[in-house]
Amino acid sequence: MIEVIGSHLYIGSIKAEQIANVYGTPIYVYDVEVVVDNYFKLKNSIKYRDLEVMYACKANCNVEILKALRDLGAGLDAVSPWEAALAVRIGFKREKILFTGSNVESEEMKFVRGELGILVNVDSISQLRRYGRMFPDTEVSIRINPGIGAGHHEYAVTGGITKFGIYLNQLKQVEDILKEHRLKLVGLHTHIGSGILRPEPFIDAAEKLLQIAVNFTNLEFIDIGGGFGIPYRPSEKPLDLDYLGDKLSSLFEDFTSRYGNLKLRVEPGRFIVGNAGVLLVRVVDIKEVESKEFRKVFVGVDSGMNHLIRPALYGAHHEVIAVSKADQPRVVTADVVGNICESGDILALDVQLPKLSEGDVLAVMNAGAYGYSMSSNYNMRPRPPEVAVYRDSIKLTRRRETFEDLLRTYIEL
Ligand code: LLP
Repeated sequence: MIEVIGSHLYIGSIKAEQIANVYGTPIYVYDVEVVVDNYFKLKNSIKYRDLEVMYACKANCNVEILKALRDLGAGLDAVSPWEAALAVRIGFKREKILFTGSNVESEEMKFVRGELGILVNVDSISQLRRYGRMFPDTEVSIRINPGIGAGHHEYAVTGGITKFGIYLNQLKQVEDILKEHRLKLVGLHTHIGSGILRPEPFIDAAEKLLQIAVNFTNLEFIDIGGGFGIPYRPSEKPLDLDYLGDKLSSLFEDFTSRYGNLKLRVEPGRFIVGNAGVLLVRVVDIKEVESKEFRKVFVGVDSGMNHLIRPALYGAHHEVIAVSKADQPRVVTADVVGNICESGDILALDVQLPKLSEGDVLAVMNAGAYGYSMSSNYNMRPRPPEVAVYRDSIKLTRRRETFEDLLRTYIEL
């Protein structure tokens, strides 16, 4: 549990302040128990008998999170060869991993299919042709762009007119290529976008895939992708998972009673890890500026867009909690800004905070998905460490980068 008790924010049964003091800031902290809860929440809401939850590890590749999901029997959605290789290294079974790349090179297919032995979910006609030439007589899956898209931001919409998937009017070509190379199509996949809080687009996309499925015999699974949103603002309503789960279940029960058995796969990333992580940062500067026209408070912290790019890239909102002043009245309206040399270096805009002092620790909430995984060394700054908490135990799972780490790939200095 990540929760405020009295004046403190707790992660598991450990005070966030204590973690910051022991391991330093900035730091990503994950509560593995929350990850496990989220997995079951999703799994239990879709009652269809043959469901497989494939964790989209692009959201967060933390080793403890991956191991916990592996132990629960989850599958894994990989979007790059090295995500696939990491999954194998962690011990996910090959048949539980699906590789869904974008603009995949032949060499990458060779590695994923040939070396790792993982099923490739092909994203375009050209890639399917190349795959067929390299791996005739094998199994393959295709990503379909169903013409339906949704998401929390334009950049997070992947269905519709985007670079993703095989378009509906290209399916005849798919049939020809399958025949030419004697490929066995075992899966139909789609992923329509990310951060979706309404059930309808998922249902529409699933219906579309099932309409397509009737044209192919021997399918083994239908994968409707991820995209299950989480509320980032207190005013946002969570996705109605029970409703969505019921609808999907009856859709699939009904379809498979005619078609024969099909596995239903979902690929949640954000839903599994989003609310399971916080980024702890320390206040290093408080700048209060005032004139006739404006009054502004900038709370400057020891992190920034290099560690959590979502606010800068999507205008995304993350709640901020002062970890040891959590019950104090929020009397200050401030922007929480980082130490990167860009005006867009924002962690939170116009948030209400208690009266702060330099040295206070803030938690940027719901930072478990697309936080560390999208972080960078911009401005020659190290990426933060990661710790995983499970109730009262805590483990450092990745150390803070050093100056030498950043120089490692230079050929000569
Ligand atoms: N499957 C595929 C093929 C995907 O491309 C993605 C995410 C997922 C599953 C998982 O989606 P999720 O359940 O996490 O929504 N950086 C953005 C999100 C980009 C998502 C990219 N693809 C953000 O921070 O909001």
